[in-house]
Amino acid sequence: MTKKFKRTTVTSALPYANGPVHIGHLAGVYVPADIYARYLRLKGEDVVFIGGSDEHGVPVTIRARKEGITTQQVVDRYHKLIKESFERFGISFDIYSRTTSKTHHQVASDFFKKLYDEGKFVEKVTEQFYDEQTGHFLTDRNIKGECPRCHAPEAYGDQCEKCGATLSPEELINPYNAETGNPLVKKATKHWYLPLDKDQEWLEKWILEEHKEWRPNVYGQCKSWLDGGLHPRAVTRDLEWGIPVPIEGAEGKVLYVWFDAPIGYISNTKELCEQRPELGSWETWWKDPETRLVHFIGKDNIVFHCIVFPAMLKAHGDYILPDNVPSNEFLNLEGNKISTSKNYAVWLNEYLDELPGREDELRYVLTANAPETKDNDFTWADFQARCNNELVAVYGNFVNRALQLTQKYYEGVVPACGELNDFDRETLSEFQGVKEKLENLLENFKFRDAQKEAMNLARIGNKYIADSEPWKVIKTDPERVNTIINISLQLTANLAIAFEPFLPFSSKRLRDMLAMPKFQWDWLGRTDLLPVGKQLPKPSLLFSKIEDDVIAFQQKKLADTIKANMEADYKVEPIAETIAFDDFQKLDIRVGTVLECERVPKMKKLLKFLIDDGLQKRTIVSGIAEWYEPEQLKGQQVLFVANLAPREFKNGLVSEGMILSATNWDGSAVVTSTLSNVKPGSRIS
Ligand code: 2FM
Ligand code: ZN
Repeated sequence: MTKKFKRTTVTSALPYANGPVHIGHLAGVYVPADIYARYLRLKGEDVVFIGGSDEHGVPVTIRARKEGITTQQVVDRYHKLIKESFERFGISFDIYSRTTSKTHHQVASDFFKKLYDEGKFVEKVTEQFYDEQTGHFLTDRNIKGECPRCHAPEAYGDQCEKCGATLSPEELINPYNAETGNPLVKKATKHWYLPLDKDQEWLEKWILEEHKEWRPNVYGQCKSWLDGGLHPRAVTRDLEWGIPVPIEGAEGKVLYVWFDAPIGYISNTKELCEQRPELGSWETWWKDPETRLVHFIGKDNIVFHCIVFPAMLKAHGDYILPDNVPSNEFLNLEGNKISTSKNYAVWLNEYLDELPGREDELRYVLTANAPETKDNDFTWADFQARCNNELVAVYGNFVNRALQLTQKYYEGVVPACGELNDFDRETLSEFQGVKEKLENLLENFKFRDAQKEAMNLARIGNKYIADSEPWKVIKTDPERVNTIINISLQLTANLAIAFEPFLPFSSKRLRDMLAMPKFQWDWLGRTDLLPVGKQLPKPSLLFSKIEDDVIAFQQKKLADTIKANMEADYKVEPIAETIAFDDFQKLDIRVGTVLECERVPKMKKLLKFLIDDGLQKRTIVSGIAEWYEPEQLKGQQVLFVANLAPREFKNGLVSEGMILSATNWDGSAVVTSTLSNVKPGSRIS
């Protein structure tokens, strides 16, 4: 940080209230924002941490129609769920409000009105897609059609989910209303545009020259938008749900959700300052140049926070601009994209119910795997490994050893530190250096590395105890053990401070075990945190192992979701071209009895059958080994093509026919048979 600021306004993207939050949201936005806010508070800095639900826009209306309830019911339900989940997970917002609040409607309307009155918008009439049957203009997301690139039949008006192309609805072939299937026509409509083309110059200077320190992914995305040239952007929409455009002649139009949502940060700060007068005026947090504004967001929000919102703030005047916009990439789940609409996610509320008391385990893994520079993958196996091998085996183990030895040798009373030897001094200097390293990393939003440094403190502690061997030394030099345990305990107290921004729940448990109610960041590195003679309460384990069955349950849950989605998405193949009866007659399909069935060595997919075809025995090889155990098929009757030319496999095996199977929706094969037993060799006709 080159410029010195007096206070910090930390915002985190307002999640759409169209579903619960999932681990992708947490890793991308809320955990890093919370670490940062907690760190600043612990340093004693002035900070407000602003959150809230984004309750306008198309996603919430789509959800309402899907669930058959009103949009208000949707946002009420999910706002409550999200807010409670964040609280339970320790996301330490100073306020978590919502964009349907009265304050927000007022602040956003006033913001628009001021820009309108000052002639900051451009008014344009354009032709938009319109559904004549429902009488609605459609937003990009509500329009579907054939993708002009990959020809997938159901691309959205803004993006093709099959090939990933960014689209505009005009590009779609045969566009239609995604919900009703109705064809669309073009109809003229008036909207207000923010003329971003006029902001090009200052934005280029401000971002490309003055904010080279922004993360490469953020800087790169801004550069590519700016290089492509900025164009005016509509800030109003023809919709019923949202904040009405506060001017005459705009009936039936609302503010575009991306216009009102970022203003939500301001409204929520205003609400917060009304609740807590000691914070002063909300304007100090948004208008004083000595306030540092930091937006935590996901990568799909970069353009709105780095280009559009700053342009809005500048047009309004008086406001400060963000000093940094730390944006993460995406988190995948077991190799697949997380998807709210496909219900493929680890939902925070479900995690909290299913793994109670394990908030810090998830926080730890999400930070250890944070997609800071590239997309990353969350797997339950990795979650288990990190919890057991790092939290339990390193951090928990060190703390437990230090506290148990204190109980064992000193009945829980902190012993005095004697003379230091070289190893003590080396250990102390190593851990005293961690404070500066941590600060550097945290101030540069490198949370992953910062957490590693904190964990490194525990490693230093483990090595210190292991190499000092107090359990041996106690027999020969008990005085020396006083020093070893004192140093270990001071290290433990340091860990409680260092981990507080990352793992607040276990930090609190640890502070309780150290009878250390007060603490502050600046104490980090000190060796007198626990005074000699202090009585420590009986310790308990800081972390416990995650057992295999917990992981297996979660893995199965995801596998079941994938299966359900595949089944729902399965499209029956179109019927093949008509054939003449004579052509059918050429196929000789018979019933055969399976006499033998076995796997084929080195050919994982194959099963080898010996079939009684009524006349003789024949060998048939079939690629269904993935789906059947040989024993399941022995003695069964199957349908097979009897007059297919023999086919030789690589290993010399010859198949004299083909067993008929149906390919199920999930790709599995199901062998066909007759409804009741018939004589082997019976012909199918
Ligand atoms: O992408 C999203 O989930 C948006 N609801 C984020 C809005 S951030 C801010 F502008 F409020
Ligand atoms: Zn496509």
